[in-house]
Amino acid sequence: MALDTEFGVKGSSIIREWSGQVQPALVASFVFLVCLEACLWVRNLRLKRRLPGPFAWPVVGNAMQLGQMPHITFATLAKKYGNVYQIRLGCSDVVVLNGDRAIREALLQHGTEFAGRPNFVSFQMVSGGRSMSFSNYSKQWKAHRKIAQSSLRAFTSGNSQTKKAFEQQITAEAMELVQVFLRHSTDGRYFNPSQEFTEAAANIMCALCFGRRYAHEDQEFRNMLKKLDKFGETVGAGSLVDVMPWLQRFPNPVRSGYENFKNLNEEFFAFVKDKVVQHRESFDPDVTRDMSDAFINVIEHGQDSTLDNEYVEATVTDLIGAGQDTISTTLQWILLLLAKHPDIQAKLHELIDKAVGRDRLPSSEDRSRLSYLDAFIYETMRFTSFVPLTIPHATTSGVTIDGLHIPKDTVVFVNQWSVNHDPLKWKDPHTFDPARFLDENGALNKDATSGVMIFSTGKRRCIGNQIAMVEVFLFAAVLLHQCSFESDPSEPLTLNCSYGLTLKPLQLSVRAKLRGKLLGLVSPA
Ligand code: HEM
Repeated sequence: MALDTEFGVKGSSIIREWSGQVQPALVASFVFLVCLEACLWVRNLRLKRRLPGPFAWPVVGNAMQLGQMPHITFATLAKKYGNVYQIRLGCSDVVVLNGDRAIREALLQHGTEFAGRPNFVSFQMVSGGRSMSFSNYSKQWKAHRKIAQSSLRAFTSGNSQTKKAFEQQITAEAMELVQVFLRHSTDGRYFNPSQEFTEAAANIMCALCFGRRYAHEDQEFRNMLKKLDKFGETVGAGSLVDVMPWLQRFPNPVRSGYENFKNLNEEFFAFVKDKVVQHRESFDPDVTRDMSDAFINVIEHGQDSTLDNEYVEATVTDLIGAGQDTISTTLQWILLLLAKHPDIQAKLHELIDKAVGRDRLPSSEDRSRLSYLDAFIYETMRFTSFVPLTIPHATTSGVTIDGLHIPKDTVVFVNQWSVNHDPLKWKDPHTFDPARFLDENGALNKDATSGVMIFSTGKRRCIGNQIAMVEVFLFAAVLLHQCSFESDPSEPLTLNCSYGLTLKPLQLSVRAKLRGKLLGLVSPA
C-alpha cells in the first residue's frame, strides 16, 4: 500500500517531490552518517575504553536508555559500573559521577579540573551569551562570579540594615501570597500555586536588582515567567539538543523545544536589558539604589576591564533566572508535602504558635526555636532532590579519580539525587522523615544537614545558597503561621514530576484556610 494512502493523505505535489528528490538524498545522508558512526565506534572499541559503562549504540549512544528520570537510571547504572562511569549521548562522551565520596573527591579535591562547563550551543543562548552560570571556567568567569557573589552578599546580608530590609521584603511577599492564596480558595476552591510561587520568588530578585516588584495580576510579567518555566528542560543534564545537533535539521519536538528556548531567553534578556538601560540613564555614582546600580558601578566604572558593559544585564538575568525557578520549585514541594502529611503540618502549626504566638509574624530571629521547620525543609530538599543533577560540568584538563582517567573537555554529570538517596548514608532514604535532621535534644543536627546535596559543591557551588535558605524558611514560616493547606480529595496527591534542571510536581491542587486573624503588614515595595 502506498505511503500516502496508508496515512489517509491525498497524494500532493509536495509529497511527490519529496519522494522523488529529497528522500533519496536524506536516505543517503542517513546511511553515510550511520556508516561513519559505526567506523568511529569500531575504532573506539579497538582503542582501550577509558572508563567502564554500558554499551553505546551508534548515532544515539545511550540516549534512548535514559528514561523519564535520568538521575534514577544513572544511580541504577552505578550499581553495575561503579560510581564513576561513562555513557555516550549522541556525539558526546559523558562521565557520570554518583555517590557522596566520588562527587566530593571530584568537585572538592579536583575543584579546578571539574569547574568547566561544556561548550553547548544552548548554553550560549543564555543571558545574551554572557552568562556566568553557563560559561566555561576562565579568568573572566572568576571575575564575573566574584562580582555577582559579593553584590548578592552586600544586598542581602552585608550589614544588619540590608539583612533586615531583605527579610522584610520576603515577609511582605509571603503575606501577598497568603492573600492571593485565600482569594483563590474562595468557596472551598482548589488551585495550583506554582505560578504564584514563581512570581513571588521572581519579585524578591526584582526587588534586589531593580528596587521594584510586579503585581501578581501583571499580565506581561506573568506571561514571561510562564515561558521561563520551560528553561530547565533544555539545559538540564540529558537534554538531547546539544548532543545530537542533527535533530535541528528536520521538524521534531526537540527542534521546536529549542526554538522556544531561544525565544524565551531573548525575551527575558530584553526585559532585563530595558530595566538596566533605565538604570544607566539615571545612574548616580554616589547613590547605589539596587544591584543593577552596583553592577553598573563595578563593571562600567570600576578598575577591572575584564568584563564589557553588557555583562551588567547578563549578571542580572543570571541572578533573576537562578533565583526564581529554584525557590518556586522548593515551595511547590513544601506545599505538596505539607498537604500529603497532615500530621507533620499540624506539628509545625503547633510549634510555630508556641514559638511565635498568634499576634505577630515569624521572623528569622525565631529560627533557633523552629528547628523542626528547618528539619522539614532539609528533608524536602533531600527527599525530592528537586535539582537531581547539577548544571552539566566539563573537565578543564585531564584528571584521574577513583583510579580512572578522564580527558580534558569531557562532559560531566553530577548526580545529586544519588547522594541524597544513598542507603549507606541515610536510613530508609525513600521515607519522608524530617526528624532525621534533629539531634536527641530536638536541635538541628548540622552534620546531617551538611550531608544533603542540593546546592552542589566546589568551585561551581550555588552562590545563592544562603539567601535561598533564608527565603524558603521565611516563606514557609509565614505561610504556615497564617494558613493551613489541604489537597483536593478528587485528585490524589502523587510525587509525579516533570524532569529538567529542576523536578517540578505535575499535579498540585490545594486550598488554603486562614488560621485565626489575617495579620496586617505594609505592602512590599
Ligand atoms: C533552593 C534554591 C536553590 C537551589 C537548590 C540551587 C541549586 C543550584 C545548583 C545545583 C547549581 C549548579 C551548581 C553546579 O553546576 O555544580 C546552582 C548554580 C547557581 N545558582 Fe543556585 N540554587 C538555588 C537558589 C539560587 C538563588 C536564590 C540564586 C541567586 C540569587 C542562585 C544563583 C546561582 C548561580 C549564579 C549559579 C551558577 C554558579 C556557577 O556556575 O558558578 N541560586 N544553584
